Amino acid sequence: MPATRLTRPLLLLSLALSIEAAAGLPARGAGGDRALGAYLAGECVACHLPSGRQVGGIPAIVGWPETSFIAVMQAYAARQRDHALMQAVAAKFTADELAALAAYFGSLKPP
Ligand code: HEC
Repeated sequence: MPATRLTRPLLLLSLALSIEAAAGLPARGAGGDRALGAYLAGECVACHLPSGRQVGGIPAIVGWPETSFIAVMQAYAARQRDHALMQAVAAKFTADELAALAAYFGSLKPP
């Protein structure tokens, strides 16, 4: 079990979550829209850069077709796709929230 491989991402994740909480933004709303996606993305961009630049083995996720983005997130949530951290991340979102994230990241231009 690669404990250290998991520890750092989890630390980053909890950091991202506390930043999100500290920002005092309103709770998750209606969903499905890009603005909601931008808000939810606060949790992702500690690892996945919004610029689409790839760093340290973390894949770029901008500019994807929305359906592909949603399919990949659902595959993580259903544990069909392997990666403990992304499985935990993906499983937290409703279908509307995944659609919102897909709309937001899909709207960003790859470098
Ligand atoms: C702690 C770092 C971290 C956070 C936070 C994180 N991810 Fe990831 N993500 C990764 C890593 C590492 C991978 C590569 C996993 C693999 O090898 O399957 C990945 C993979 C992905 C992929 C698949 C990329 C590909 O090319 O196949 C998507 C889509 C994705 N993440 C979306 C998100 C979204 C959306 C969020 C926020 C809700 C998020 N991630 C939060 C680290 C993170």
